[in-house]
Amino acid sequence: MAGGEVRLVDLVKVFQDVTAVDGINVNVPGGEFFSLLGPSGCGKTTTLRLIAGFEQPTSGMILLDGVDMAQTPPHRRRVNTVFQSYALFPLGLRFKDVSKQDAKRMVHESLALVRLDGYDKRRPSQLSGGQQQRVALARALVLNPSVLLLDEPLGALDAKLRKALQVELKALQETVGITFIYVTHDQEEALTMSDRLAVMSGGRIEQVGSPTEVYQEPRTAYVADFLGVSNLMDAVATGSSNGRCTVKVGSFEFSADQGDTTASGDVRVTIRPERVRLEPRETTGENRIPGMVERLVYLGAITQLIVRLAQGDIVQVMVPNQGGELPYEQGTPVSVFLPADALRILAAPPEIPA
Ligand SMILES: Nc1ncnc2c1ncn2[C@@H]1O[C@H](COP(=O)(O)OP(=O)(O)OP(=O)(O)O)[C@@H](O)[C@H]1O
Ligand SMILES: [Mg+2]
Repeated sequence: MAGGEVRLVDLVKVFQDVTAVDGINVNVPGGEFFSLLGPSGCGKTTTLRLIAGFEQPTSGMILLDGVDMAQTPPHRRRVNTVFQSYALFPLGLRFKDVSKQDAKRMVHESLALVRLDGYDKRRPSQLSGGQQQRVALARALVLNPSVLLLDEPLGALDAKLRKALQVELKALQETVGITFIYVTHDQEEALTMSDRLAVMSGGRIEQVGSPTEVYQEPRTAYVADFLGVSNLMDAVATGSSNGRCTVKVGSFEFSADQGDTTASGDVRVTIRPERVRLEPRETTGENRIPGMVERLVYLGAITQLIVRLAQGDIVQVMVPNQGGELPYEQGTPVSVFLPADALRILAAPPEIPA
């Protein structure tokens, strides 16, 4: 089924005194796996409910394949929703304009899609959590929507099943080729599955991009912080030339190549834990600052080190475990190297809502 393009134009939803959605503009092309990622209360569910037609916008427009949906009731939109808490009904579905035989075939087809063919006689109480969630998906797909809205569909499942279903869901989306708009507050989930994602905060979109774009090139401190540990530090930008900015973190000077390299004055700098390098204390040179290991956390594939820098900030450092002992323990003095090509300048003031 072609189509499935969703466009939100200056979308606003106000409930009494709460502005749940505060001017969202987004364009999701047909067939895309698009995620809305953000903390509790940022307006994700409200956005989905507006697209589905369960809520009316206060202002703005929702276009499905270029057609304004203002006058279209939910059941006339080619959109279906999978909720976090789902009500399971017996699988013998009844359709208005579909013969009994066709209905049976459609049920089997959608069950096959979610790899549950042969389970159509089971009762909900005879299915595991993961199977129940697959049934919810089959139900949503059976009427062949061009857009599927998914509101934290894996939220209730344990970590292992969740990971398995993430992969399955992405594969399913590629098979059926329809647009998925997927709501989650789990950054890893959004990064794993999405073609593109929107990072939301307080009813607004902070940044839209591919997983690598938002992870590697966060535009604001909020996005950097929300997408994982980001080592945010206050700094002062003191000059820039040729795409390289000089910043002072305390009394230490660094070069930074990433982000808003033409900024001046108060800024924040950020570096991913996997890009920080630890060297022996006596190592000196550009972009290095003395530090001291405060804590080590063994995480299997990597060890996370908490290092206090000479000027007071704390940075997290990820060191891969490649066999052998790490030469660090609590109190080990180190030289901390923050490579210029990994050091990013965020000019926007930090706006981290409570
Ligand atoms: N029907 C309603 N009446 C009044 N306020 C509402 C209503 N629905 C949502 N809100 C408010 O709008 C804001 C956004 O809610 P929404 O449910 O969209 O958040 P969410 O991002 O889905 O959060 P969560 O991750 O907790 O599900 C919240 O402050 C919420 O309290
Ligand atoms: Mg919600």
